[in-house]
Amino acid sequence: MELQAFDMVRMQCLYEGDVDYDLSGCGVPSVSLGEVMDSDDAVRAMLELEQGYPPTNGSPELRSAIAAMYERASADQVLVTNGASEANFMAAWRLLERGDEIVVIVPSYLQTWNLAVSWGMAVRSIPLKEELGWQFDPEDIKAAVTRKTKAVHVCNPNNPTGAVMASEQRKALIDAVKDSGAWLLADEVYVGAELGDSRTQSLWGHHERTLITNGLCKAYGMPGLRIGWLVGMPETLKELTCYHDYLTLTHSMLSDQIARKVLEPERRERILAKNQEVVRMSHRVFDDWNEAHGSALAHRSPEAGAMCFVRHPPRSNSLDLSERLRKERSVLVVPGGQLGMDGYIRIGTALPKDYLLRGLDRIDDLLRTLRADDVERLD
Ligand SMILES: Cc1ncc(COP(=O)(O)O)c(C=O)c1O
Repeated sequence: MELQAFDMVRMQCLYEGDVDYDLSGCGVPSVSLGEVMDSDDAVRAMLELEQGYPPTNGSPELRSAIAAMYERASADQVLVTNGASEANFMAAWRLLERGDEIVVIVPSYLQTWNLAVSWGMAVRSIPLKEELGWQFDPEDIKAAVTRKTKAVHVCNPNNPTGAVMASEQRKALIDAVKDSGAWLLADEVYVGAELGDSRTQSLWGHHERTLITNGLCKAYGMPGLRIGWLVGMPETLKELTCYHDYLTLTHSMLSDQIARKVLEPERRERILAKNQEVVRMSHRVFDDWNEAHGSALAHRSPEAGAMCFVRHPPRSNSLDLSERLRKERSVLVVPGGQLGMDGYIRIGTALPKDYLLRGLDRIDDLLRTLRADDVERLD
């Protein structure tokens, strides 16, 4: 097997500490432990906790708290993992085999796509279209998902466009997986990070062959806890625990205990609301800057997440442009090419205001030079 590198993650690991302005992230600023362990009793309980193995599928309390977020799900339908990455990996490992066909809606976080390619699968992509408000064309899904399709992978709300799947598209997706018998793999790490007041409805509960992946990394702002989860039918979860036994056995006892507190309903809503306000503020800063600069960074406003997917001049390529931004302007962004769609760059917004503005100025500066070059070439 030749492993397809996860280029975006590799690039971030290599360069994020090396640039003046790192705008490659897509999460909210991290939440501190103090905001969770906010009473003497909670701190004492944490200090007294013996650091043995937790139950390998997650403590019953944590699994119940997670199950309560999904309609008609019970604790035995939840498997706690080390981050959403491990949940995505296990779903792919369990389901995908050489020769299978998978459909991936792009642009997206390409973990599953890259694994499928590495494992010798045929990958078909369905594009989200900017002119449709970053929705896919329902006809595309009807045509692409057939009896040969093993799984359809979606990220909703979407990373990097920040779009939330509209009801017509939800219906087309659910009909397509039901009719074909394909699995639905839905990465929902941005649920709860919406800019508006309504929460994205999970894709859980419509089709038996569904696996939902999620975690505390994005909407909750706690990627460092490395808590993720899978939700599926009990028999699928039982199988997945066998894969977990080989992979990492379990997550950490400490993270399990902290996650239980994070997901207590009142605290959970408080944390999400605070993070949502940060996301909203960061887009206000971005939009004000954009307006003052004559909408220099053209994009469709996202509905969720602390990022913008920005169109760049047609003559440049997103990988080259991102390289130039890094080398010539010391700014790190994610090229759309590493997210399955060239012609765009992803810019993270949840950063201190002055830092974000200075980074945007540098991006704008390089893009203006490129546009001027384009005009000159056309003349
Ligand atoms: C859509 C999506 N899924 C999963 C992950 C990884 O999640 P975790 O940090 O919980 O492993 C990310 C990280 O950026 C992401 O954007």
